[in-house]
Amino acid sequence: MTVPLLEATGLHTYYGASHVLHGIDLRILPGECVTLMGRNGMGKTTTIRSLLGLTPPRAGEVRVRGKIVTGLPPHRIAQEGIALIPEGRGIFPTLTARENLTVAARPGRWTPEAVLDLFPSLRARLHHLGSQLSGGEQQMLSIGRALMTNPELVILDGATEGLAPLVRRQIWSVLRRLRAEGTATLVVDKEVRPLLELGDRHLILVKGRIAFAGDSQEWRARAEENLVLLRA
Ligand SMILES: Nc1ncnc2c1ncn2[C@@H]1O[C@H](COP(=O)(O)OP(=O)(O)O)[C@@H](O)[C@H]1O
Ligand SMILES: [Mg+2]
Repeated sequence: MTVPLLEATGLHTYYGASHVLHGIDLRILPGECVTLMGRNGMGKTTTIRSLLGLTPPRAGEVRVRGKIVTGLPPHRIAQEGIALIPEGRGIFPTLTARENLTVAARPGRWTPEAVLDLFPSLRARLHHLGSQLSGGEQQMLSIGRALMTNPELVILDGATEGLAPLVRRQIWSVLRRLRAEGTATLVVDKEVRPLLELGDRHLILVKGRIAFAGDSQEWRARAEENLVLLRA
């Protein structure tokens, strides 16, 4: 049996007294693309923060390749080969695009040149400050910066939200390429159709609980119910 790249069991996460996650189970096998769907405020970001130790769960366990990482600081969990593209991109505004790209670099297949081949439009922007980039450029840079850590798992909290259609298509195409290359991904987005085309398995969160889990075929077999769960 394959050891999951990442496995979370029974996560309960709080903000102060507010109990937000009520027993989340999630597993990602090597190379798999798992999507996390749900309306605003249902706990997608909190799930990601729990996995990465940014908001540690009060109960439950997170394992990376079988090793328990719950309780480790976020940088130690990241060192296990997990990279985050956060909500709002997290670009350093006062660093140049090039500095943003190389600040967390680790040796491997993804070099600045390889990232610039993936996002050619960043090439002309390398000397601009993070704050001077458009939303689309910031998202490309955020993905590029994550890839520069040469991760085994890339987590995107909002793959294409707020971006122009052309940039969105580019990002979906990059995610297909990562999938083809065997890099695992956990993807949050509002666009259901590309998620169903891309993902191996899907989760829908409702109020901090998993209301649906299944592959794309199972998702479509329950499309009506699932769309109700996602309706704003
Ligand atoms: N820092 C915080 N402090 C208190 N409550 C929070 C905080 N962040 C999120 N929440 C609450 O936790 C719930 C889940 O939020 P979140 O994980 O951001 O949802 P999603 O990413 O699915 O939109 C919401 O009710 C939200 O208001
Ligand atoms: Mg969120």
